[in-house]
Amino acid sequence: MLAGKRILLIVGGGIAAFKSLDLIRRLRERGATVTPVLTKASEEFVTPLSTSALAGQKVYRDLFDLTDEAEMGHIELSRAANLVVVAPATADLMAKMTAGLANDLASTLLMATDKRVLIAPAMNVRMWEHPATQRNLATLQGDGILTVGPDVGDMACGEHGPGRMSEPLAIVDAVEAALADGPLKGKHVLVTSGPTHEPIDPVRYIANRSSGAQGTAIARSLAALGADVTFITGPADVSPPSGVKVVKVQTAREMKDAVDAALPADAAVFAAAVADWRVENASGSKMKKDGSGKAPALEFAENPDILAGVSQLKKGRPKLVVGFAAETDDVEANATAKRKRKGCDWIVANDVSPETGIMGGSENAVSVISDQGTEVWPRLSKDQVAAKLAKRIAGALA
Ligand code: CTP
Repeated sequence: MLAGKRILLIVGGGIAAFKSLDLIRRLRERGATVTPVLTKASEEFVTPLSTSALAGQKVYRDLFDLTDEAEMGHIELSRAANLVVVAPATADLMAKMTAGLANDLASTLLMATDKRVLIAPAMNVRMWEHPATQRNLATLQGDGILTVGPDVGDMACGEHGPGRMSEPLAIVDAVEAALADGPLKGKHVLVTSGPTHEPIDPVRYIANRSSGAQGTAIARSLAALGADVTFITGPADVSPPSGVKVVKVQTAREMKDAVDAALPADAAVFAAAVADWRVENASGSKMKKDGSGKAPALEFAENPDILAGVSQLKKGRPKLVVGFAAETDDVEANATAKRKRKGCDWIVANDVSPETGIMGGSENAVSVISDQGTEVWPRLSKDQVAAKLAKRIAGALA
């Protein structure tokens, strides 16, 4: 529920703007107050009259509207909300946000706000996949901007692919996650997830079978309990959850840097399947067969152990550090030893033998090992494991 919450909704100029009218309706159904802001371009798609009628509120349009400035300055407008939502977030608006431009009301509000910002990108598939947009997305996510979507599907321009704005109800879910009032409100939790890719040369890499499903579910459950989540993910199969700060990395060393940059945190959950080794003699150009029939010799170097590093921090250690132990034999004994060796508070142990179907599957059977002993959980969906773990974390941080 969003009762009593105030949303500043910036509508960008794209065909998906018509869905923003439904979004206003859905947000209000849940009790939110919606203050709409239209850009010049969005007025080509929706009218100020229909927007204001649905919002039951005045629509803000122009930075230099002196009446508005007299009533409520743009600084105040940007801060009176609990959350700023940009839907649709066009390529142009994303670029403005990345560059820090403030040349109209929407971009000025986005620069002036001290509240969290959630964007729902929508654009043509080629514009979405353009390196400039992907660069901007990574920068915005790194700045803590929350994202929802885009979805994959047919687009108004006749093409198919990622770029459709998320459906209004999915955006409402992301708004609720971003504003969740739960036992973890005010707590910063970092979560690592997914595999890492360790390059051999520019086209080949060493990876593992982690899909990122469990780490993603954990981040989503923590956010649903109100936590401020930094989600550091390797190249996973599943999309990151909405309502969290996403940092995308490729290698173990990049993951370590991202974790260091995200600290301090109240709790840290290390669900990533980090490669233990990287190729030390990785080639800067594609390795070629030389005709001799001899395979190239790869030399390996050990990657930093991110979990152990954080667990053993003398200063600034999170209050609760949770590791995972992916084992194929003697699961409990190995995981218990791993907890001691790494110095974390809890280890979530799972059997990743191929016959369990856990790695890459939708279920998980885990034991949680702490200084209180071992708790064996039944086989549950990864979402259920995540919800149970998030609740346990909330209990430990209370
Ligand atoms: N981990 C990490 N950094 C690494 C390796 C592992 O942070 N370089 C974390 C994982 O995210 C997980 C835990 O350590 O939380 C255990 O990972 P696992 O692969 O089970 O253990 P390893 O340390 O790789 O030990 P081993 O290979 O001996 O089982």
